[in-house]
Amino acid sequence: MPEGENVWEWFGFRKNPYDFLPLAVNKEDRALFVGRDAELPRLVAPIESDAGGVTVVEGRAGVGKTSFVNVVQYDRWQSKSCLPSFQVLQVLPNTDPIGFVLSAFSTCMGSLELSNPRAADGDPYLKAGKAMVTQMLNSGWSFSGGLGVGLLGGQGGAGKTAAPSSPLLPAMPSILNTAGKWFDAASKLGWSKFIIPVNNLDMLDDESAANFMNVVRDYMITFAKKGVWWVLIAKEGFVHALENRAHRVSEILTGPPVKLNPLSLDEVKKAIDVRASKYGKGGAKAPVPDEIVSWLYKLSDGEVRAIFKKLTDMIFEYHATVPSAKTITGTAARNILIGEARRRIEGLNIQTNWIRVLERMVSKMKVYQGEFKDYNFNSQPAFRHALEKLCYFDLVRRKEAGREVMYLPTADTNLAFQKVNGSAA
Ligand SMILES: Nc1ncnc2c1ncn2[C@@H]1O[C@H](COP(=O)(O)OP(=O)(O)O)[C@@H](O)[C@H]1O
Ligand SMILES: [Mg+2]
Repeated sequence: MPEGENVWEWFGFRKNPYDFLPLAVNKEDRALFVGRDAELPRLVAPIESDAGGVTVVEGRAGVGKTSFVNVVQYDRWQSKSCLPSFQVLQVLPNTDPIGFVLSAFSTCMGSLELSNPRAADGDPYLKAGKAMVTQMLNSGWSFSGGLGVGLLGGQGGAGKTAAPSSPLLPAMPSILNTAGKWFDAASKLGWSKFIIPVNNLDMLDDESAANFMNVVRDYMITFAKKGVWWVLIAKEGFVHALENRAHRVSEILTGPPVKLNPLSLDEVKKAIDVRASKYGKGGAKAPVPDEIVSWLYKLSDGEVRAIFKKLTDMIFEYHATVPSAKTITGTAARNILIGEARRRIEGLNIQTNWIRVLERMVSKMKVYQGEFKDYNFNSQPAFRHALEKLCYFDLVRRKEAGREVMYLPTADTNLAFQKVNGSAA
């Protein structure tokens, strides 16, 4: 391969057909979206029916939540009913709630500016909103990290509302007032609804997420009254956890959560076909054989991001080892995928008895904490500690089904420890 040529071009593509990043709010990515016919109207209905509110999209990591919300954003934007957020609003364990509210406001401002670049020039309220945010930024305020008030995951008991100690707290009434007038002015320009997806709530544990929501609840309502639709992106069972831990938050949600299950295998294949035909030059076919996609689908329990990410890594590895090859055989793909998973796990230097847990889990498919003896652990807490740590390494996935908690192997674990009779088949 001539130097500088890119791998995707080598295989006949303009871009990676297995791109694992979320679909963005734009026309090109909208065209890549498949399935979800039953779920789309469930998110669209509340947004179209009410002036503003708070609603939730739930699902496992990597099933397509962010992409789903972005597609809804794109469609609402195209039908002129809402302005989408082009920036990603994240909640991390150290996110200051007040900073969060301000960055939500700044997100709306960014959207309006993109759609209507000169708008702020002619309107005193739009100008005032912008000046306020600019001033905050100039004073050293960091939206993304806030000031690290340490509110989340703190010592507060379950469901307790920690008092926000942000230095901006005293300024909140005037901030909200300025923001309110800004929204009224935007509405006069024809944009009376804004969608603000809140990402990464799925990365917080239940207690941290409930604490966070307790603190921002009233601000969310204030914004909702001004036309903001908050779409909270969370893990499975989030609303259920809120009902138990933060009832005053769950009661402000509009409608039940939209639950996203993994795409079906056919849908994943279709997603790849769509990309291959959009990105492929001269009818190039997707470089990885179908059987490998099916195999990874099974091993990752349908997690589309894991499938795309693994295929991407595998292709780079393959190309580095066999630069002259234009097609990838099933055998080569399997060997690389298994080898990579094993290498990653070896690199983590996990204790031998934990490795045995992984090994055993793969043949059992799932594990309960109560089974500690079968895995040679002395106590349930010790076993749970090991399992949680393995979750942290993304080798195990925690699944709650009602009151039951079980642990399942992830794609890497399945790849590394499966009975490899099929590996060279
Ligand atoms: N409905 C879909 N159609 C096509 N591709 C999808 C769809 N849903 C997800 N994807 C792809 O799957 C990957 C993971 O999606 P993402 O939205 O980031 O998942 P999540 O937010 O649940 O972690 C991305 O590469 C995305 O492009
Ligand atoms: Mg996401």
